[in-house]
Amino acid sequence: MTKRTFKGKTILVTAGPTHEPIDPVRFIGNHSTGKMGYALAESFAIRGARVQLVSGPVNLEAKHPQIHVTAVTTAEQMYEAVKSMAATADILVFAAAVADYRPKVVADKKIKKSGNELTIDLVKNVDIAAALGKAKKETQFSVGFALETNNESENAREKLQKKNLDMIVLNSLNDPGAGFKHDTNKITIIEKDTVTAFDLKHKSEVAEDIVNLIWERVNA
Ligand code: CTP
Repeated sequence: MTKRTFKGKTILVTAGPTHEPIDPVRFIGNHSTGKMGYALAESFAIRGARVQLVSGPVNLEAKHPQIHVTAVTTAEQMYEAVKSMAATADILVFAAAVADYRPKVVADKKIKKSGNELTIDLVKNVDIAAALGKAKKETQFSVGFALETNNESENAREKLQKKNLDMIVLNSLNDPGAGFKHDTNKITIIEKDTVTAFDLKHKSEVAEDIVNLIWERVNA
């Protein structure tokens, strides 16, 4: 049994993609599997935390009894769920791959094929991490994720500040074996004054590394 316990702490984790409906049979989504968020939830729960896992549509099951799952579909639903639970959370982890835009109009009937081109107007979704960052309490610790292809550290640092996060976990798409479709990940954790790089590892081990560093910071 590890000494790095989160007993008595409530952790809010977002995970998976969001699906933004176009019509009754189609949606805009992304390749997120939710594995990273679920691995984090598991790791916190094993260390004694109560975990509120707000999850987009995934093929995963949270097994630990200390993990309470709220299943959502869209970014708006994820935001509403997170907002209602945020005040009681000690640590917030934004691991979801939230769709940045949603169709402006959702057709109530299946869109039929017609013409050679189809244009769908999109409107911006709420930035959940940024909105919660604005309401963050002095005692709360928050962690975001960033997936970048270029200017990685610079972009991650900008997000750290813009979303009022304490820590950002950077996945680089330039690293083979890292990202959406793999069971492994290679991360760099960026904080205001510190950069910590890790090797390519299984996502459950990556979750351990992240949770260990969070523990160090909240118990410093
Ligand atoms: N995030 C969020 N709500 C959104 C978009 C992102 O909570 N609508 C969170 C993600 O969970 C992640 C972090 O913000 O922790 C970074 O997401 P990312 O998509 O990389 O950042 P964006 O601000 O959307 O920037 P861009 O897509 O332009 O790189």
